[in-house]
Amino acid sequence: MDDLTTLEGVGPAMASKLRSSGLTTVAVIAVTPPREIAEKTGIGFNTILKFVAEARKLVGFEFIRADELWEKRKKMLKCSTGSEALDELLGGGIETQAMTEFIGEYGVGKTQICLMLCVMAQLPPDRGGLNGNVAFIDTEGTFIPERIYQIANEMGLDPEETLGKIFLARVYNSNHQLLIVEHLFKFCPENDIKLVVVDSMIGHFKSEYLGRETLSERQQKLNSCLHKLLRLGEAYNLPVIVTNQVQANPAQFFGDPNRPAGGHVMAHACTHRVYLRKGSKGTRLAKVIDSPYLPEHTTRFRITEKGIEDVLVAT
Ligand SMILES: Nc1ncnc2c1ncn2[C@@H]1O[C@H](COP(=O)(O)OP(=O)(O)O)[C@@H](O)[C@H]1O
Ligand SMILES: [Mg+2]
Repeated sequence: MDDLTTLEGVGPAMASKLRSSGLTTVAVIAVTPPREIAEKTGIGFNTILKFVAEARKLVGFEFIRADELWEKRKKMLKCSTGSEALDELLGGGIETQAMTEFIGEYGVGKTQICLMLCVMAQLPPDRGGLNGNVAFIDTEGTFIPERIYQIANEMGLDPEETLGKIFLARVYNSNHQLLIVEHLFKFCPENDIKLVVVDSMIGHFKSEYLGRETLSERQQKLNSCLHKLLRLGEAYNLPVIVTNQVQANPAQFFGDPNRPAGGHVMAHACTHRVYLRKGSKGTRLAKVIDSPYLPEHTTRFRITEKGIEDVLVAT
């Protein structure tokens, strides 16, 4: 499936042209808009249409019967966050075959949740994990190995072994981010990746596209990146975690003046959206704000040297 020459009409030269434009696998070709492939590779549009149609057939993106989907969803797994309360809010933990978004202001704990999940995902299923490696897309340079070391140590794990199972990609701009996401279709199965984190999803998009006139281009690119991530989670039965910032909503006079960045594109692409706020006594509040089947609950957790934990209730 990774050999592009399995596609009719793709010889070694054409395959290398596709690969060097980031279209590394049949699966990536199947999920990339044909226009985008044509632009990137300079190959004629009609030729691309044929490749894409064939790739989709190979990958099986045609109709799927509902009972097959049901079977697939039965394979869905959950990864614990380390906090029972937060897991319960999420319906038992972070879901595979889905994209979960953590939204909140600077310092609220989005990265801390991501780092905690990097450790949790490595645990065996009976300890709430997914028994696998992690791919971490770091767009802000906030991945701190020392913190992973600390959490692993507190949990009685071998910290260096834990660090050795996290694969980092430091991403410098939104084009780079898109390329890395495309590369994940190849990277994940090759490296036994069971969790994909993008922290933050939106940072580069926001800083690169400033004026109103660039907004639709930005949203298109963001949309494409998000849908690839979702497809990745579905294809390899893994959870995708993305973080998102909040921005002030000038039209809001009452209540919380902040809203998630990324507009409708972000809202529609993410399966579960969790809004984080600071609570009293250093605790954090998490609220599900948009989910196809999780109720809109709020819960409390805290960030400690052990990572993410429940708030202890005094008895
Ligand atoms: N080792 C630690 N022990 C306890 N709390 C920590 C530790 N490291 C970070 N934190 C908490 O996490 C917060 C930073 O969260 P972070 O995930 O970086 O925010 P965000 O990514 O949402 O901007 C800090 O303000 C602090 O409260
Ligand atoms: Mg952060």
